[in-house]
Amino acid sequence: MSNDRSYQAKEFNLSGLNGISDRTLEMHFKLYEGYVKETNKLTEKISEFLADGKVDQDEVPAYSELTRRLGFEYNGMVLHEYYFGNMKQQGSGDPGKASNFVKAAETSFGSYDIWKADFVGIGKMRGVGWAICYENPTNGRLSNHWITLHETGNVAGFNPVLVMDVWEHAFLLDYKPAERPKYIEAFFSNIDWDACEKRLQKGTTARSSAAK
Ligand SMILES: [Fe+2]
Repeated sequence: MSNDRSYQAKEFNLSGLNGISDRTLEMHFKLYEGYVKETNKLTEKISEFLADGKVDQDEVPAYSELTRRLGFEYNGMVLHEYYFGNMKQQGSGDPGKASNFVKAAETSFGSYDIWKADFVGIGKMRGVGWAICYENPTNGRLSNHWITLHETGNVAGFNPVLVMDVWEHAFLLDYKPAERPKYIEAFFSNIDWDACEKRLQKGTTARSSAAK
């Protein structure tokens, strides 16, 4: 059931990426739409429990289970939007040396190359999840994190700047399971660094308005 509180799947025009096929993207968009639908469905079901203004004792097990699932579906929806949103056709590989991202990486890690070694290292970790570079909005510092599934490891209140899906569905039509490093290389060649700069800018704006 859809209402004015429900989410709509966003559209991303990414065909023709380097090393990530259109077939993979089409399948991936469908999976993403599934997260949007499930987020809406769970929200609706939970609201039915709340319709009488309370959670009855006999409703607690079902209510709890749906609420636990909501974290998985919600993060699945949002992280895919960040992921698709930080790629583009003819991406630029590495960011410009004068970019705010490179400056933030130098301040936080010593150099962009060290930042990248950490981010790629996380992306190669065994398991099902994501590599995410976050900005701490209070001080502008970057840190890289491993997220298990979609919901375990996200840092509350931090600003996702670069988000990389490393679930096998992100690359299995193009590479073997053991070839994740090749997918990561392809992902880097498609990064939309302008999108990452805009995300960083959001953190900078939040800091400057908090300082006033
Ligand atoms: Fe995915």
